[in-house]
Amino acid sequence: MNKIALAVLLTLLVVIGINNLGDIIFHEETLEANAYPIEVEMAAADAGAAAEVEEKGPTLAALLQDVSAEDGEKVFKKCKACHTADEGGKNGTGPNLWNIVGREKASVAGFGYSDALVAKGGAWTYEDLDHFLTKPKDFVPGTKMAFAGLKKAEDRAELILYLRSLSASPMGLPAVEEVTEAVEAAVEGEVQ
Ligand code: HEC
Repeated sequence: MNKIALAVLLTLLVVIGINNLGDIIFHEETLEANAYPIEVEMAAADAGAAAEVEEKGPTLAALLQDVSAEDGEKVFKKCKACHTADEGGKNGTGPNLWNIVGREKASVAGFGYSDALVAKGGAWTYEDLDHFLTKPKDFVPGTKMAFAGLKKAEDRAELILYLRSLSASPMGLPAVEEVTEAVEAAVEGEVQ
């Protein structure tokens, strides 16, 4: 009788044990089942954004944080044939560029601008300068500025940072979106 009672007890214990064990495994599995797809989704989103950054390169705002105005002064040598950039400097083939960042387009008095640039209107924002300097004739079809453009985004950022310094009160730099920074960190992490 005792042996039978013991056997029943043991069986009960084993059954309870298995049930509990099952519970533990089941719980872990549910957790894993929830956590895994989210991770995968985030990884996929990161990879997508990272691929986009790799394709397009860092944004102008991000580049402006990284480059130096001194390097931009060197790039500006390409512009000196036609532009002065000191305060009150004379117009040459092109208008004086003092205070150009944030300045109204085609606004130097006495300079004979093209109708195309006058018609473009608005202020020279960082983005507008970047587009114009990439390929002047694309941004302002019909412009008088006979300059092919600067293909490298970094050269343009350096130059724009230099142009920004040519002012009594330089305009604030554009904010870098946090997402971009995170994604760039991800890209850099990948590269390393
Ligand atoms: C071959 C001469 C020439 C060169 C080189 C040149 N530019 Fe110009 N630039 C001009 C002329 C001409 C205009 C006026 C364009 C118009 O009226 O359409 C102009 C206009 C501009 C404007 C608009 C000014 C305003 O008042 O709205 C900016 C900005 C500018 N140039 C920047 C540059 C920079 C930066 C470089 C060097 C990368 C450069 N340019 C090289 C001739 C030149």
